[in-house]
Amino acid sequence: MLYSLIRPALFRLDAESAHGLALKALKMAGKTRAPAFPASLSTQVAGIAFPNPVGMAAGFDKDGEVPDALLGLGFGFAEVGSITPLPQAGNPKPRLFRLVEDRAVINRMGFNNRGAQVALEGLTARRDRPGVVGINIGANKDATDRIADYATMARLMAPLATYLAVNISSPNTPGLRALQDESALTGLLDAVLEARGEVCGEDGPPVFLKVAPDLEPADIDAIARIAVDKRLGALIVSNTTISRPTLHSPHRGETGGLSGAPLRDLAQQRLRDFRKATGGAVPLVGVGGIATAEDAWARIRAGASLVQVYSAMVYEGPGMARALCKGLEALMKRDGFATIADAVGSE
Ligand SMILES: Cc1cc2nc3c(=O)[nH]c(=O)nc-3n(C[C@H](O)[C@H](O)[C@H](O)COP(=O)(O)O)c2cc1C
Repeated sequence: MLYSLIRPALFRLDAESAHGLALKALKMAGKTRAPAFPASLSTQVAGIAFPNPVGMAAGFDKDGEVPDALLGLGFGFAEVGSITPLPQAGNPKPRLFRLVEDRAVINRMGFNNRGAQVALEGLTARRDRPGVVGINIGANKDATDRIADYATMARLMAPLATYLAVNISSPNTPGLRALQDESALTGLLDAVLEARGEVCGEDGPPVFLKVAPDLEPADIDAIARIAVDKRLGALIVSNTTISRPTLHSPHRGETGGLSGAPLRDLAQQRLRDFRKATGGAVPLVGVGGIATAEDAWARIRAGASLVQVYSAMVYEGPGMARALCKGLEALMKRDGFATIADAVGSE
């Protein structure tokens, strides 16, 4: 309600300034206590207890500044990052565009973030607080050895993360998505798992892998096989798309990753593809174009154990996590499911 009043003013700002303001507001809101949720929404994935299945996707809180404020908004988990070893300016501005007519966003941010040291300070300060905080790790654009960057990040962040998310699917770092290829991916995951083991032993946080929606069937099969083989905690399906369905907004020609409503059906299909390819052996996190409880429910029924949102929050505002949870609870009742886990893959 309140958001519908301030949204026009926010939308008069360019998208990146509006995002900066939202972060500032959340910093001011501080570490409010996370609301309580009905037990029916709680769910266990990769050995982690989630109070509800709706998470904030990576890219909103790139430096890990406001995870507790996000949990305070009602998200069941907050994924911060992507964080790279060294600070990085990202691409020249403008690089973030609202496609209002399409309820979508195009971004070519390019992993802008203040680097591991700054994130470490903030995340260390909150380390004793409760709440599921995933840390999404990336490689610097100019790194000569990108796999070494991921290993460095795993070593630094594993002690602070409820889970680590390995992001090899951003379209805005040239060549990054090549790490999804079979041999590169095996080497990358071995390096990350070894680095995690060095600092945390057997008890380290589970490793999630975030993939692109723009994959061929053979890629999907290979990634699924590796995910099962390496016992990944989850696959996050998916990042933004470089494909362009029909769009109507003036910004439709911008280069970058497309997210929001036009990504929904593609991300849903990729989730089904990964469910089939993994045979349900690896939990899936569904992300891409989720805006309503019905969208989230459809993703869960298609095989997602958890869901995440980002772009829709630009349009729906900060009450979104709570609204999705309320709606999910009603849909579970309607369809006769006592727990989220029972509904996963039930379509
Ligand atoms: C502005 C912006 C920045 C993003 N930055 C990251 C990032 O740093 N790391 C990452 O893994 N995903 C990033 N994403 C992708 C989102 O986490 C998500 O996968 C994608 O936007 C699809 O979900 P949505 O349609 O709900 O936005 C970003 C998305 C947007 C819109």
